[in-house]
Amino acid sequence: MSSQEITAKIFRYDPEVDAEPRFDTFKVPVIKNMAVLDVVMHVQNYIDKTLAFRCSCRIGMCGSCAMYINGRPRLACRTQVSSLGSSEITIMPLPNLPIIRDLATNMEPFFEKWKQIKPYFVNNPDAKEPAVIRPDSDERENIDAMLDCITCGCCYGACSMVATNEEYLGPAALNRAYTLIADKRDIIRVERLKVVGHSYGVWRCHDQFNCAEVCPKGLIPTQSIQQLKKRCVMKKFGIFK
Ligand code: SF4
Ligand code: SF4
Ligand code: FES
Repeated sequence: MSSQEITAKIFRYDPEVDAEPRFDTFKVPVIKNMAVLDVVMHVQNYIDKTLAFRCSCRIGMCGSCAMYINGRPRLACRTQVSSLGSSEITIMPLPNLPIIRDLATNMEPFFEKWKQIKPYFVNNPDAKEPAVIRPDSDERENIDAMLDCITCGCCYGACSMVATNEEYLGPAALNRAYTLIADKRDIIRVERLKVVGHSYGVWRCHDQFNCAEVCPKGLIPTQSIQQLKKRCVMKKFGIFK
């Protein structure tokens, strides 16, 4: 990019005040290693203090800064302006979620789906000690690549099934469910499998990997969903214990 300035086209909407959304355009000076989060921070600090967005860690860990940037869900803090290959950036809120204001979305529907799959391990109350799963065991290796979710919601924003069916549990919650269902120590895995096998669960997924394409942590929720489908079938034939 040769220009020393970029043009940021930013979605603006306050549902309590505005009849409809609009885009505001801002000229922002480019700095070295500038991330899209720096762009919105510049706008808020120096041009329009009313711009609303969410962020915290600024290092790709908290998952709070997910936005729809140049047509794709991304973490604003991990998206370098230079990587977009354009002097114009369009920044919108993450799709498939209600808007609180401007770029800040209400994550409640996303976490409501997590609640449904009970996203925590349930140990056998009679166990004297937690069973050990060795780091090099097959059981651990099966879920290793699925464990680093930061609940950013990028996959949720990219999922066309979430867009068309608000009941659908969505990629992140299903991915989390798989990591627990694959753990034989978990005593509610059969109950959990019932939840994900319901009509708003795994069978809605059309396996097109949109979620995997946008996950900033490199997770592949589609694969977890395929594993869950397999276990649902096993359960039907009485071979899932
Ligand atoms: S693969 Fe499934 S979960 Fe992932 S985006 Fe597509 S429909 Fe959604
Ligand atoms: S699976 Fe990936 S994209 Fe989806 S919420 Fe977790 S970290 Fe974000
Ligand atoms: S601010 Fe925490 S992931 Fe971007």
